[in-house]
Amino acid sequence: MRKPIIAGNWKMNGTIASGSILIEAFNSVLQDMELSCDVVVCPPFTAIERAVALTRDTAIAVGAQTMDYHDAGAFTGEISPLMLTEVGVNYVIIGHSERREYYGETDETVNAKIKSAFHHNLTPIVCVGESLEQRESGHTLDWITSQLKGALVDVPKEQVSQLIVAYEPIWAIGTGKTATADQAEEVCKEIRDYIRSLYDDETADAVRIQYGGSVKSENALEILGEPNIDGALVGGASLVVDEFIDIIKAANQIGA
Ligand code: 13P
Repeated sequence: MRKPIIAGNWKMNGTIASGSILIEAFNSVLQDMELSCDVVVCPPFTAIERAVALTRDTAIAVGAQTMDYHDAGAFTGEISPLMLTEVGVNYVIIGHSERREYYGETDETVNAKIKSAFHHNLTPIVCVGESLEQRESGHTLDWITSQLKGALVDVPKEQVSQLIVAYEPIWAIGTGKTATADQAEEVCKEIRDYIRSLYDDETADAVRIQYGGSVKSENALEILGEPNIDGALVGGASLVVDEFIDIIKAANQIGA
């Protein structure tokens, strides 16, 4: 059985101080829980080092929200995978729709970043998702498989089985509009079936697929209960202690 994974994408929010308060609050609840799911927080870069220090010897892992695929060089403003591993990061979100929309990320850069992440022992959380227009015109599944095809060029099956795909419909991000559990499951199943067609049963059955887009305590259990959904990538609700904890509890219930 795949272990559920809940990741909090803090986006460009908070400070080192506010992030520390959040993590300390998570720690104090999680230390008394037997966790049957993985938990990751992805703070802004400046708060990562403190987050790693505060989560040492806890069940929480730390991820970055993006990275460059080069190791070093004249790439002003970028952060390399080496810099992330130096501070103790284990996961990295790649190809979030906000990165694709505002910072020009493409399937090609996503592919390069996935390879670079594995080269540096970082686990990629690879985001795919359709716009409202694509959904309404019936192109959702075609679009998602084309994003995946581009993302996975020359990525070997041993790596694909370890990565995490996050299905995040753009129209559900930060809008309060969640995909229904059926809508989310339909696409997550398609993702798994597509990986099966590109690789094999073993790889498809191992890859973990998250849903993201307005996940909250009130809808988490229903979404996470779907057979092809193995976790959630949570934005806004990951900044609210009770909300994030309740989502983790829902995943724990499913994973137990
Ligand atoms: P919200 O949960 O705020 O909709 O954000 C989802 C997201 O983009 C996580 O990466």
